[in-house]
Amino acid sequence: MDVIIPPPGEVINKRLIDTLPGGKIGTVQRALFAAPQGGSMVDKSTSNLEHFIIRQQRLHPEATGEFSSLFSNITFASKIISREVSKAGLVEILGMTGKTNVQGEAVQKLDAFAQETIVKIMMRGGTLCVMASEEQETVIPVPEPYTRGKYVLVFDPLDGSSNIDANVSIGTLFGIYRRKTISTGECTPSDVLQPAKSLVAAGYIVYGSSTMLVYTTGQGVHGFTLDPSVGEFLLSHEEIEIPKRGSIYSCNEANFPLWSEGVRRYVADFKAKPERQAKSRYIGSLVADFHRTLLYGGIFLYPRDKRYPTGKLRLLYEAGPLSFLAQQAGGRGSDGVKPIVDIVPDKVHQRTSLFIGSEEDVLEAEDYIKRFGDSL
Ligand code: AHG
Ligand code: MN
Ligand code: MN
Repeated sequence: MDVIIPPPGEVINKRLIDTLPGGKIGTVQRALFAAPQGGSMVDKSTSNLEHFIIRQQRLHPEATGEFSSLFSNITFASKIISREVSKAGLVEILGMTGKTNVQGEAVQKLDAFAQETIVKIMMRGGTLCVMASEEQETVIPVPEPYTRGKYVLVFDPLDGSSNIDANVSIGTLFGIYRRKTISTGECTPSDVLQPAKSLVAAGYIVYGSSTMLVYTTGQGVHGFTLDPSVGEFLLSHEEIEIPKRGSIYSCNEANFPLWSEGVRRYVADFKAKPERQAKSRYIGSLVADFHRTLLYGGIFLYPRDKRYPTGKLRLLYEAGPLSFLAQQAGGRGSDGVKPIVDIVPDKVHQRTSLFIGSEEDVLEAEDYIKRFGDSL
């Protein structure tokens, strides 16, 4: 096996070390990996996303660079969306009626803008054969004369969009699959309708007090913060691991009367145990609620209820990619009965119940549902 040894002071990926012979870092390699000044081995000020991805690509000698190119197109689109999100309030003021801006251009709704930006950039990237988005009823095939690639992109261009006017964090969610049909022809529904465990990569961008991109390719979960002064995502959170249990529960508690007995009891007991020191947090933007859960632990739940009997959140581009991420970070995503990553979607906009976050908290929710039932 080829061992890739990064130059001194470079980013060290724990999973990369695990691939070294014997799964351990040797004395010579440790010396090579060590930061010149001691302390952190990661020089965050100069570790950008592109650099990080190229390093991960070197772990796969068979890689053609197509995936790296796909990923750099996603980050490019996210920077454009981030720019637009950050001036959303300004556009309202300068746009007067909200219909035209100072240049006389139409002011689009941000979710339509995000959708168009992603589709335009990804369509010409040459790495995809089909896309599926929350904002479009049917799948979006890459037509001739564009070059078709071997990947499939599923995405929610702007999640939490009802929060935009209140300046609350919103986000973009994405998942990348490899197409199943080996051909350069058109994709089939089976290329899109894959379970989240088949994802090649998944991630999100949260447009908050700063813009952050968090992603996994199955080799750990890593977070990058956009430095607007240089226009680059810099490594800020390497190897994120979700705590095994947390004290935060996150749900729209106004739906309490609409939930099943199992879910009502779970939430009531979560709050009741004094040793737990429970805290309630709910932003109402899935990406932002998930991001907090990933960093602090606890559980986010949007169970099925009397209003949404099959759940509100979407399997393919919301629950699926986030459950894959949670699992990669040592957490769990469930529909209350089974792992979300195992569910094979029947349709693009299929909905699901979602319980996601710290492994022990999600397992406990599953246990309540088993014991007290999930009928509405
Ligand atoms: P979107 O803005 O993409 O349609 O998603 C909204 C979702 C999700 O972001 C959030 O977790 C949930 O809707 C909030 O729903 P409630 O307003 O019912 O709590
Ligand atoms: Mn959404
Ligand atoms: Mn959306």
